[in-house]
Amino acid sequence: MQENIKDAVLHTWEAAWDRGEVDALDAILHPDYQRVSARTGGAVDAATLKQNILDTRAAFPDLVTTIDHIVVDERGETAAIFWRSAGTFTEELHGVPATGNRVETRGSNFVELREGMIATERVTWDESDLLADVGVPSLGSAFEEAAAVDGAPTTAPSIEDLKGFNRQFITGVTVVTTMDEEGNPRGLAANSYASVSLDPPLVLICVQKSTSTHAPLFTSTHLGINIMSTNQRDTVGVFASREPDKFASVEWHQGPHGSPLIEGSAASVEAEIKERFLTKTHTVFISRVTHAEAADLDAMIYKGGKFYDSAELTQL
Ligand SMILES: Cc1cc2nc3c(=O)[nH]c(=O)nc-3n(C[C@H](O)[C@H](O)[C@H](O)COP(=O)(O)O)c2cc1C
Repeated sequence: MQENIKDAVLHTWEAAWDRGEVDALDAILHPDYQRVSARTGGAVDAATLKQNILDTRAAFPDLVTTIDHIVVDERGETAAIFWRSAGTFTEELHGVPATGNRVETRGSNFVELREGMIATERVTWDESDLLADVGVPSLGSAFEEAAAVDGAPTTAPSIEDLKGFNRQFITGVTVVTTMDEEGNPRGLAANSYASVSLDPPLVLICVQKSTSTHAPLFTSTHLGINIMSTNQRDTVGVFASREPDKFASVEWHQGPHGSPLIEGSAASVEAEIKERFLTKTHTVFISRVTHAEAADLDAMIYKGGKFYDSAELTQL
């Protein structure tokens, strides 16, 4: 029996992961199959596993998975599968633009068998190694939502409550810029700027993965951050839109590393991107400032969806 299971796992694994024939898994996955991530505790069913395999293969078309060992216990109730996978990161995966890097990862799955089929599979693998290879230096719990295995809901405030909280945090407005691979200037309005530290000089910005500026930013080495002045209300409108050529309506120059810096801004910096932390919807960029310019202009203020003049403030 043990040999049958081993052979079946080897054949179906190869068919699914190396050739994309995911329905071959039906031969070894129990109808109640659950695949549990050892790291997050999140569980997926067979259909989601199949889709994950197809997504992974689309991103790594030359993926080859090797099973080094399968150990099945004497009663045929549990098994351990030790595997490694290698491929080239050729197409975007979950909002992460492809890097062209060759990637290798390895892991082990602890399997519970029922009626000769895999009922549960607990997967342990070093995601951080994989992501470092992929070119993403570090990550939060990026791709898996930590849905509890027993389906217990996780607590969260309503979106409206959270928006209410965020509205009370008053910010400036920046335009974050970069040059894309074709040498075109790209940018978007962003108020998620924060100063991280002065020494080293680190700054932070969060950019939604669904924006058109995200991919060029993600693959850039440098970015520009321009703090909008009170004269740039129209500029904010342009950079908060999805217009194709946002730079047609502004004067700009390049920083020492080529990032677009917008004339008339209250201040601008150019920074080298050091970290890209992925969340489900946004990437948090942490960058080291390499160049700074400040003008004698008042900055724009953003509060509750409206824009204000910082020259008109009352000091407390
Ligand atoms: C005041 C303001 C602040 C914004 N802050 C952010 C932000 O921090 N991150 C982000 O991804 N989008 C932010 N946006 C939204 C983007 O500017 C908007 O989605 C833009 O259309 C993206 O353009 P793109 O798809 O051409 O890159 C902000 C918009 C406004 C008006």
